Amino acid sequence: MIVRKNMGRGKTLLMLLMVLGFLFATYNFVSLIIEHKAGGLLEPFDKKVMESTSSNLKYHVALTATDAAYSQWQCRIMYYWYKKVKDMPGSDMGKFTRILHSGKADQLMDEIPTFVVDPLPEGLDRGYIVLNRPWAFVQWLEKADIEEEYILMAEPDHIFVNPLPNLAHGSQPAGYPFFYIKPVENEKLIRKFYPEDKGPVTDVDPIGNSPVIIQKVKSRLVISLMEEIAPTWVNISLRMKDDQETDKAFGWVLEMYAYAVASALHGVKHILRKDFMLQPPWDLHVGKKFIIHYTYGCDYNLKGQLTYGKIGEWRFDKRSYLLGPPPKNLSLPPPGVPKSVVRLVKMVNEATANIPEWDSLNRKS
Ligand SMILES: *[C@@H]1O[C@H](CO)[C@@H](O)[C@H](O)[C@H]1NC(C)=O
Ligand SMILES: *[C@@H]1O[C@H](CO)[C@@H](O)[C@H](O)[C@H]1NC(C)=O
Repeated sequence: MIVRKNMGRGKTLLMLLMVLGFLFATYNFVSLIIEHKAGGLLEPFDKKVMESTSSNLKYHVALTATDAAYSQWQCRIMYYWYKKVKDMPGSDMGKFTRILHSGKADQLMDEIPTFVVDPLPEGLDRGYIVLNRPWAFVQWLEKADIEEEYILMAEPDHIFVNPLPNLAHGSQPAGYPFFYIKPVENEKLIRKFYPEDKGPVTDVDPIGNSPVIIQKVKSRLVISLMEEIAPTWVNISLRMKDDQETDKAFGWVLEMYAYAVASALHGVKHILRKDFMLQPPWDLHVGKKFIIHYTYGCDYNLKGQLTYGKIGEWRFDKRSYLLGPPPKNLSLPPPGVPKSVVRLVKMVNEATANIPEWDSLNRKS
């Protein structure tokens, strides 16, 4: 009180100026941090692209699928969790489409937004059904009306476990680095499709097409994106399949390599996000990761020890349900099994308990 009484007008003014100065400095500092976080320290080119695209960060969830019972039950669980996380804070999810590449409608049309596309012409898939994925994307991109500026390429065995933001950065897509996709170790094969004059083999990212968040259209400043990559991806997939040596070496991940090579041919590098997915049983914790990918069987003995490759006393493996959906209320794993596996089974159970007509609507084979 005394201090204030003794303060003249000059002093008050001085203090006001000091406070303003402090606020101004703070403002500058904070905006510097925000700019840094938003990638403000990138090349001016990238920044321009960012400004031109920041208006619509939402991405469309695009799920390629077939009408087989095995694909259907996974899609139903996936869509259930999409609906649950879509509007949670931190999510940039837009609409959802199941791109059904069996060429005809199935009985899930009313449950899941679906776009029917044609399979590859008879015989062209060489019995390798996933070769239909790139072709499905080409058709969907060409024919569908997609309002979002970005696309998440997803697969039926993905479960959204945390709200997923748009991990792409302007024109730079984001992908997940798979430990088994190794372009550098397969240089000889990769070079058949990515010749030396294109650049070093390290240009080819250790990824597949899914999960990837990528800008849909080629914009003014963007070099090339999904609409350009997709046809190349079809082409490279078929050429790899036709090359015996490559087909034999890449096996079931051939179409993943094909996407990695196709995007590199268009000069596209992906931001590699390890937190994009977790893959039980190898990844033990969910933490802040976004998608559970349940492609591996989870086999444990009753002591909670992993018996990978050997059928466990307790198990969850999607391949146990090739002909129809898993039953509701699967038993939870024994004590000692990693949290990621427990979470997966609980999420499957929650979905199957709540999806109407769980047992009856799936196609019976
Ligand atoms: C892939 O593209 C190359 C060059 O454009 C072309 O010669 C070839 O026939 C295409 N292959 C397939 C299987 O479409
Ligand atoms: C699920 O199964 C457990 C036994 O594994 C049982 O105790 C529980 O009541 C079941 N829940 C439902 C909803 O059926």
